[in-house]
Amino acid sequence: MALANTTFLDACAGRRPAHTPIWVMRQAGRYLPEYRAIRAKVSFEELCHRPDLCAEVTRQPIDRFGLDAAILFSDILTVFDAMGAKVEFTPAPVVAEPVRSAADVDRLRFGRADDHLGYVYDAVTACKKELDDRVPLIGFCGAPFTTASYLVEGGGSKEFMHIKRMAFAEPALFGRLLESITTVLVDYLAGQVRAGVDALQIFESWGAAMSPADYREHVLPHLRRLVGEVKQHGVPVILFVRGNASLLEQARELDADVLGIDWSIELSRAIEVVGRDRVVQGNLDPIALFAPPKQLEARARAIVAAGREARGHVFNLGHGISRHTDPAAVARLVEVVHGA
Ligand code: CP3
Repeated sequence: MALANTTFLDACAGRRPAHTPIWVMRQAGRYLPEYRAIRAKVSFEELCHRPDLCAEVTRQPIDRFGLDAAILFSDILTVFDAMGAKVEFTPAPVVAEPVRSAADVDRLRFGRADDHLGYVYDAVTACKKELDDRVPLIGFCGAPFTTASYLVEGGGSKEFMHIKRMAFAEPALFGRLLESITTVLVDYLAGQVRAGVDALQIFESWGAAMSPADYREHVLPHLRRLVGEVKQHGVPVILFVRGNASLLEQARELDADVLGIDWSIELSRAIEVVGRDRVVQGNLDPIALFAPPKQLEARARAIVAAGREARGHVFNLGHGISRHTDPAAVARLVEVVHGA
């Protein structure tokens, strides 16, 4: 069956649908009472392992807001299951045994995604069934560096001391780790496409921890390989690199169909940097959803207007939605973007 709403895929392909499509990073989550009702019954880990519940929470924001794309409910860290690393969500992720030495890297076993992540593929299948071709489904993974940063730091980080130390002091070890992670990610995204996702997003949430020169030397080659290999599957690839103002010039070199823009740069300026021939996604400050309605509306309209200068534009936030957001503000935002 054909998709009922193709506005998101049209924009990804550089076409101009009747309205600017919108989805919201982290759109399925704790700001929604219907999500919290499910989480009151099961842990986050259990939720990720239950395809039926993944499908239900993936659909919740589609039902409530009429967004133009759904994103698979999972996490960028579930992929650790294919690497022999254990993570707990408290809800912030905690890796029991951080990977810091050559011996630690040797202890990991980089397996086939198919052997360990079948439950995610089952969630994709369940989501596709649940969505019933109303909107496309986006699959995702963390970028090699962001994924590695959780493994090496043992969780979130402010300074990224351990992973940067590894890159600077033991570049061969760092390179080996990122290469192995990238191989798993390539395999994992291929599996998501086989299971039925209509697009893919790669989250580089922490790239800005590296200076632009260090990013180019140590990180970009791996991201380039990931994007290049994943592009072969024929679904649009969105590359979201946070810290755009400094890293956008590198992101634009890659062959991603859509470049995600955070709010550290004006969308009009970002379009100048990446070129008007590219498709962009973004970039409302998530905290703008806490502004008075008129102000939210003005900010959203300005972003839609700026997006018209690019070859295509998918409206989104510049990063994940805050768990404290009032769902009514999201409803208003969708209405404004669709009406602009
Ligand atoms: O709606 C969606 O976007 C789909 C699901 C999704 C989640 N995490 C669910 C989740 C996606 C795409 C992610 C991506 C993700 N996970 C990223 C990249 C995006 C970004 O924000 O930069 C990162 C860095 C992670 C790692 C991660 N997972 C963190 C830092 C946390 C804790 C954050 C918090 O809000 O406390 C998680 C847990 C997590 N992943 C939750 C959800 C809904 C909260 C868990 C809960 O229900 O208790």
